[in-house]
Amino acid sequence: MRHLLDTRTLSRDDALLILDTAEDMAATQQREMKKLPTLRGKSVVNLFFEDSTRTRISFEAAAKRLSADVINFSAKGSSVSKGESLKDTAQTLQAIGADGVIIRHPASGAASRLASSGWIEAGVLNAGDGMHEHPTQALLDAFTMRRRLHGAASRGKGLDGVSVVIIGDIAHSRVARSNLWLLIALGAQVSLVAPETLLPFGVRDWPVSIYHSLDEALRVENPDVVMMLRIQTERMHAAFFPNEREYARNWGFDDRRLQTLSERAIVMHPGPMNRGLEISSGAADSPRSTVLEQVANGVSVRMACLYLLLSGERTEG
Ligand code: NCD
Repeated sequence: MRHLLDTRTLSRDDALLILDTAEDMAATQQREMKKLPTLRGKSVVNLFFEDSTRTRISFEAAAKRLSADVINFSAKGSSVSKGESLKDTAQTLQAIGADGVIIRHPASGAASRLASSGWIEAGVLNAGDGMHEHPTQALLDAFTMRRRLHGAASRGKGLDGVSVVIIGDIAHSRVARSNLWLLIALGAQVSLVAPETLLPFGVRDWPVSIYHSLDEALRVENPDVVMMLRIQTERMHAAFFPNEREYARNWGFDDRRLQTLSERAIVMHPGPMNRGLEISSGAADSPRSTVLEQVANGVSVRMACLYLLLSGERTEG
């Protein structure tokens, strides 16, 4: 693997390799001495053109635990036009000698542009490009599902037959897209629930079931995993639903809906959460909620990705 740009082109074998490597990394994080020498002498740049809390610090922690040098580049607010600024920045990173670049950018396709541009030789990890993909989020979500549903015996396993219902602002969500492709590769059944206005164009060509009613989806699918998405107001330039109360009533995961879940079902959210809108505090803080496990697992999964991309000699391909 040279870059990690999306999950749509990730094979089941590569996905399982990342998840199993993340299990190894997680085991090292139980030790008192968490730091491994694996990426000593390598430079990793966190190139963030968009706000982020958990993804940026998670990548930073992951790189540091592998002993890489981390350079944080918060490029938000640059006045240069996007194409130019990306090229200029990339050339600067090349001059510095970056081995890995973790990029978050508001434009869909920015990460693959960087990877295929010839501007840099570094391995590129997509940390979220516009409304397109966020592959490490999907990988940490799959890792969390595997652990919760298969327990200690999760190594080598996919998510065959697992029913996952993804709810909310699908249209603006790179998390939903990355999860969808990865979950399908791992054998899960995916359903999407949203008002018509928050479903993307072309969604009916995707290999998923679609519901407008959350209660119907919960009844019919009897999900093992409920994944809530944040309402992404920063990407909305019009009204997509009547008001917040109406949204919460129809599509919010509240205490009543929490009661309807099967015994083994879990509730996920990538964060940041809008409590009281897409998820109630009762659901977010319940024992079924994996919100903080997702954050903790994110470090192991990102360690695995950095290790697989950046350790050893770089080869073309
Ligand atoms: C997600 C993102 O930025 O796409 N958050 C994250 O990575 N933790 C989801 C979101 O912002 O809603």
